[in-house]
Amino acid sequence: MTAQDDEALLDAKASILTGADMWSLPAAPDLGFPGLTMSDGPIGVRGVRWTGDPSVALPSPTALAATWDVSLVQRVGALLAQEARRKDVRVLLAPTVNLQRSPLGGRHFECFSEDPLLTGLLAAAYVRGVQGGNVAVTVKHFVANDFETERMTASVTVSERALRELYLLPFEIVVREAGPWGIMSAYNAVNGVRMSENDALINGVLREEWGFDGFVVSDWFGAHDTVAAALGGLDVAMPGMLSPFGPPLAAAVREGKVPPEVVDAKAARVLDLARRTSAPAPATRYDGAAIAREVSARAMTLLRNDGVLPLAGAPRIALIGGLAKESRIMGGGSAQVTPERAVSAFDGLTAAGLDVGYARGADPSERLLPATVPVSVIAKVADGSVLAELDQPEAVIQWVGQLPEGIDPGALDTVVLRGTLTPGESGEHLLGLEGTGPFRLTVDGETLFDGVVAPESADPFASVFFPPQTVFARALEAGRPVTVEVAHRAGAAAGPVPFLGFALLHREPRPDADSLLAEAVRAAAEADVAVVVVGTSKEVESEGFDRTSLRLPGRQDELVARVAAANPRTVVVVNAGSPVEMPWRDEVAALLLTWFPGQEGGHALADVLTGAAEPGGRLPTTWPTVLEDCPVVDVTPKDGVLEYGEGIFVGYPAWQRAGTAPAFEFGSGLGYTTWSYESAEHTEGVLTVTVRNTGARPGREVVQVYLSPAVPDPERPARRLVGFAVAEAGPGESTTVTVPVPDRAYATWHDGAWRPNPGPYLLHTGHSLTDTRLTTPVEHT
Ligand code: BGC
Repeated sequence: MTAQDDEALLDAKASILTGADMWSLPAAPDLGFPGLTMSDGPIGVRGVRWTGDPSVALPSPTALAATWDVSLVQRVGALLAQEARRKDVRVLLAPTVNLQRSPLGGRHFECFSEDPLLTGLLAAAYVRGVQGGNVAVTVKHFVANDFETERMTASVTVSERALRELYLLPFEIVVREAGPWGIMSAYNAVNGVRMSENDALINGVLREEWGFDGFVVSDWFGAHDTVAAALGGLDVAMPGMLSPFGPPLAAAVREGKVPPEVVDAKAARVLDLARRTSAPAPATRYDGAAIAREVSARAMTLLRNDGVLPLAGAPRIALIGGLAKESRIMGGGSAQVTPERAVSAFDGLTAAGLDVGYARGADPSERLLPATVPVSVIAKVADGSVLAELDQPEAVIQWVGQLPEGIDPGALDTVVLRGTLTPGESGEHLLGLEGTGPFRLTVDGETLFDGVVAPESADPFASVFFPPQTVFARALEAGRPVTVEVAHRAGAAAGPVPFLGFALLHREPRPDADSLLAEAVRAAAEADVAVVVVGTSKEVESEGFDRTSLRLPGRQDELVARVAAANPRTVVVVNAGSPVEMPWRDEVAALLLTWFPGQEGGHALADVLTGAAEPGGRLPTTWPTVLEDCPVVDVTPKDGVLEYGEGIFVGYPAWQRAGTAPAFEFGSGLGYTTWSYESAEHTEGVLTVTVRNTGARPGREVVQVYLSPAVPDPERPARRLVGFAVAEAGPGESTTVTVPVPDRAYATWHDGAWRPNPGPYLLHTGHSLTDTRLTTPVEHT
């Protein structure tokens, strides 16, 4: 081989260590590398386009976690692999296994739980499912990315013990149990060292100690320093734009700053990734809509029920709430996909043949939604001639990092969204646009706006995920179609990171807020049962920022209180990905959490309300009465540093230590039957538990096992989840499950190692953290 060949080979190796664009690695024929595409994750597979390429949309990870069911989550993974293959995606950027350190965390809904074991075991199942379909994962974000404020730059100060026992643990479980082919490094630093450059945690803990043999990819735009990242263990810097890998990495090798073997090893890992994901897709086919519906029902968590559920007979239902028609099926940010469809509560209950009347009552947000009309997207060059025209089912575009095929960012001048709207009602309609930059909005050729919309915030994420809305009122006549058009001068698309996002907004005429509330109260009073759907909005739960309050936005609390006063048979359905305060919780007949339920949420809700399915969920996180009671209420870095000063006391162990009772305990949730716990025996690291269904219906119970030191130790949690299993039985039947309790359950991290802590312990087995029914003493040696 000549020196020239060596040089070319170095360039080729460096080239596959960064993106060709936003989502893919370039092919390198000399290395036998065909290139590959990555995509978010975790509830579907978005593909290389943010909008316009539908994917199955499953319930969000907090919902998945509420099932506590590893085999169901594994099936979800297998379905996602099928979706990935359909879109020629070989790496799914998921699962997210950061912890729910505080309910204020903006991506709380995208993580599984406040408990590291529950997170780790469910994530391992998800990974087994995805990789069983020969699609890789990137378990993310390694590590301590449990907040959004200043996430790109903040450094987390955390003790070695908390890191090991909490934040690293889910990653460790997944690596040891499921052998993931990829890990994504976090944006933040840990104890002063950026995670994309963290030699001790990536090369040391992840690779050497745990034996991880996959590739490590940066979070998007999260790698900065060529040499530090290369030596710190990062294999691939994404995306291709503004990347420190590729040519700069080859240059660093030539300058002697990075040993050539380091690049060889990275390239070898990427070639391994290609080999692992090149095996053919499995023959089994999964029905996406059916799985989405099943998981959604299984995740629904019933926190209160005076017997109103399941609904008996054929009641007249007053279905109430803006979210009952415009349900929020997923959280915001990179976890968004364009859903195949979104079945609302109204759609689902109606399709189930229930007798439903609807009243809006109150909305979670004043913001308008994109017009529900199909649109043409027309891309034009400066002289007005058309570059490309595509049809879309929704009136919104978000092109991030790359534009649809055939649209050259250099030539692009204007993008037009055009749709035909047929008003359902005569009166003042609201029409508008969402986005920043130069826009023109017209209705049947008449200009409503022609100007420049300035960004409201300096944060680039805010303009991507949460852009300003510019809205106008216009009288329209029922049944008379109008052509509505938003034209956007798209100069920004030509920057180093092409970005173009805007929407066409529409709202039918609507009474004022007081009248809406009064109408809902009337409807509730006249019905047999009121079903009120309340929850959060896009402004509340999204990647890119943290929450500032746990209150339901708008007048939704008032709505529930007034409806409950008007009808004692009020069922409240909470459509939120993470905890909200529910001041009326003791005044309602039933309280059901649907989480962000995915595309089939409305059908699943009907299944649960009618009793066609049991609400199977148990809380994977503690739900507080008020924010102020939560153990961690500050997620804002100071001078660039976020202190995890609470150490290992996060989630329910912290609640228990403080002696504060939450609104709803970790692990709680009701089914439609009752259970007795008959026996729990411990032999050789396995607890064998027998439970009996004492009710009148078949049911499913999540058997939960918590460990306590028999002699309380202030340095350790009073109770810690050490295992769980799903039991199913018919009425009157008993069933037995086994729950392994490994040695690690008794160990704590001290002085650089896991230490066993021999001594007497108690295993508490039961229905939730505090509703345990059996106690088994264990002597750990
Ligand atoms: C998110 C990642 C995501 C990536 C690509 C980042 O902003 O933190 O979770 O995979 O973008 O969309």
